[in-house]
Amino acid sequence: MRIIIFTGKGGVGKTSIAAATAVKLAKEGKRTLILSTDAAHSLADSLAMPIGPDPVQVTENLWGQEVNSLRETENNWGAVQDWLTTMLDKAQLKDITTEEMLVFPGMEELFSLLQIKKHAQSGQFDVLVVDCAPTGETLRLLSYPNVLNWWLEKIFPHERRLIKLVRPVAKLVNSIELPSDGVLDSIERLARSLEDMQRIVLDQEMTSVRIVLNPEKMVLAEAKRSFTYLNLFGFNTDAVIVNRVLPDEAGEGYFSHWRSLQKKYEEEIKVNFQPLPIMKAPMMQKEVIGLEILEELADIVYGKQDPSAMLYFGRTETIREEGEEMLLELTIPFVDKTDLDLTQTGDELTVDAGAYKRKVILPRPLMGRQVTGAKYAEDRLVIRFGGKNL
Ligand SMILES: Nc1ncnc2c1ncn2[C@@H]1O[C@H](COP(=O)(O)OP(=O)(O)OP(=O)(O)O)[C@@H](O)[C@H]1O
Ligand SMILES: [Mg+2]
Repeated sequence: MRIIIFTGKGGVGKTSIAAATAVKLAKEGKRTLILSTDAAHSLADSLAMPIGPDPVQVTENLWGQEVNSLRETENNWGAVQDWLTTMLDKAQLKDITTEEMLVFPGMEELFSLLQIKKHAQSGQFDVLVVDCAPTGETLRLLSYPNVLNWWLEKIFPHERRLIKLVRPVAKLVNSIELPSDGVLDSIERLARSLEDMQRIVLDQEMTSVRIVLNPEKMVLAEAKRSFTYLNLFGFNTDAVIVNRVLPDEAGEGYFSHWRSLQKKYEEEIKVNFQPLPIMKAPMMQKEVIGLEILEELADIVYGKQDPSAMLYFGRTETIREEGEEMLLELTIPFVDKTDLDLTQTGDELTVDAGAYKRKVILPRPLMGRQVTGAKYAEDRLVIRFGGKNL
């Protein structure tokens, strides 16, 4: 089983690239499921085929599924939700604001993503292609070291708050029901599913993430941030796909300025994402809708490469703690270390080594720390950050 997760800012072409990848895989004989976990589905439009909340066969070897997040939330969380609702009801606290306690941002997509676990465990497909909602938040939720704690922390502050609110009204205190065994089982089952899920998506042999972006300033800024966090949380990012690149012939006249801007950002993309493979998807001549043009797009992106191959292996950035210090380790395939130069501006670190340049957005644990040293050996640059300077 191979799982490929496509992520990127809104509108960059995640659905199109994910669908193109899936179409090509199916064509090559792999039993492929493309799974849309974005509540605002557009997979059916992209494939120009009706698709349902369970896998629907689209063509030979290809299935599509647009997860129904409400159904998944009900299945996984319904019992707990009912209990919370009853509590709120009894405490006569049910209004719009308390209803808000029953959900939290990202919750529905998280339940949708549990479908990944289901399919990974069923063994029904060779490849699972996941088209995510436009945010890296969900990946972050999944990657917490202890999902259960995270979960309980999310839920129980609300419960505690609720009890605090109710406590002064003595007669109501007795009416607060402790969660039944059914509710507790439900929480436990869910916590276990999330842990399984976390193991699957962080399994470097099985799962990789591909970042889709456009050669544009704001899209690039967001992609850089997500790349840093994907690395930080231990996901294996194995490729970057630059979508909507204007071909030279289209970049003349009216669009010539756009073409030169894109060229500039393509360079920036190299500096930020190497040594990951960077693939290009051109701005197509027609709307990217339907199997035929999706396959054409995938052929350009992957060429002779197998889209299900692990296109890069091993993380390009890792962070670890050593006493008071933090170490940032970068894979940098070069160079003469005498050339090495580091500059830190705000949350961005630039590594210059002769002709080679690499930029890294520093994640939160490294912000406010000063570089105290750096060492380069065997393709790895280890940068030391001192204690926090607030
Ligand atoms: N390479 C391309 N050439 C031409 N049109 C494209 C290309 N890639 C995507 N598009 C078009 O751009 C639009 C947005 O693409 P798509 O839906 O794949 O983006 P998305 O990142 O999934 O968006 P969302 O964040 O809303 O889910 C679609 O109309 C699609 O057909
Ligand atoms: Mg989409």
